[in-house]
Amino acid sequence: MKVAAVAVLGLLGALFPCLKAQTSSPLEILQQAAANWTGTLPCEGWDCECAFKKPKGCCCVASPLFQLEEKTFMRMVGLWKDLNSLNNQIEEVTGGHNVSFAATMLPITGCYGPFNKNVSISYCNVTLNHGYGYNPSLGTFTAPRSGLYSFSYTVYSNLGAEGERIYHKVQLMKEGQVIASSWEDNREDSEDSATQTVLLQLKRGNQVYVELVLGRFLCADTQGYNSFSGFLVYPLSDI
Ligand SMILES: *[C@@H]1O[C@H](CO)[C@@H](O)[C@H](O)[C@H]1NC(C)=O
Ligand SMILES: *[C@@H]1O[C@H](CO)[C@@H](O)[C@H](O)[C@H]1NC(C)=O
Ligand SMILES: *[C@@H]1O[C@H](CO)[C@@H](O)[C@H](O)[C@H]1NC(C)=O
Ligand SMILES: *[C@@H]1O[C@H](CO)[C@@H](O)[C@H](O)[C@H]1NC(C)=O
Repeated sequence: MKVAAVAVLGLLGALFPCLKAQTSSPLEILQQAAANWTGTLPCEGWDCECAFKKPKGCCCVASPLFQLEEKTFMRMVGLWKDLNSLNNQIEEVTGGHNVSFAATMLPITGCYGPFNKNVSISYCNVTLNHGYGYNPSLGTFTAPRSGLYSFSYTVYSNLGAEGERIYHKVQLMKEGQVIASSWEDNREDSEDSATQTVLLQLKRGNQVYVELVLGRFLCADTQGYNSFSGFLVYPLSDI
């Protein structure tokens, strides 16, 4: 292909000795110059005889151009395939980064709890669930891939019917282990809230959820202030 390109340049150079003076179209000039040419041509593998015996046929360049076209087309097909496979690989790598969720408790007019065991809170109003790691009916986030994750929860309670007392303990759990907790036991405030944020290294399949501890209760969250959210900070290789 390189040889052909050099030959094209050489030929064009030879055919356009005084281009600036011409007013005819480039094709006409080319035809005239070809007809006028008397010297030898740097044709190499080209069929120049054909061009100059039948100047209108243009078969001189037809065959190499066709080959060039064919090669270029095959190369483009190859490049297209490579590009597609690269796109797929990029999707594989970046697709797994797309993990985040945010959910709040549905508004409660009375109290949630007390229960006779620790109960995982189901934050049912899901506003974000990329990667589908969060299951609202269980209130549980299951890591779709290993990585470093950030989780936050906010606990809010107002004076409830239960003896006009704010009395709660909420804990963020990873695989049955307490990671962080917030609690309140007072009769002085009329409402209270607290937020915790943690970074957790999780393996694929690890579960994270928020529990309300037995005997405690959350009351009068009419605004859905109790929330739970999390996202993948960066993936780590699955071990
Ligand atoms: C070709 O020859 C004709 C007649 O001799 C001349 O008028 C014309 O300028 C030439 N064209 C080129 C491109 O050399
Ligand atoms: C419930 O949570 C409390 C407070 O963290 C803990 O002491 C208790 O062992 C838990 N109960 C069960 C059954 O896990
Ligand atoms: C769910 O949360 C969104 C965003 O905070 C809020 O606009 C919407 O009213 C909530 N839905 C319910 C049923 O509480
Ligand atoms: C992330 O995932 C959600 C669905 O879970 C999808 O709608 C969104 O387009 C994804 N975003 C990117 C950047 O991949």
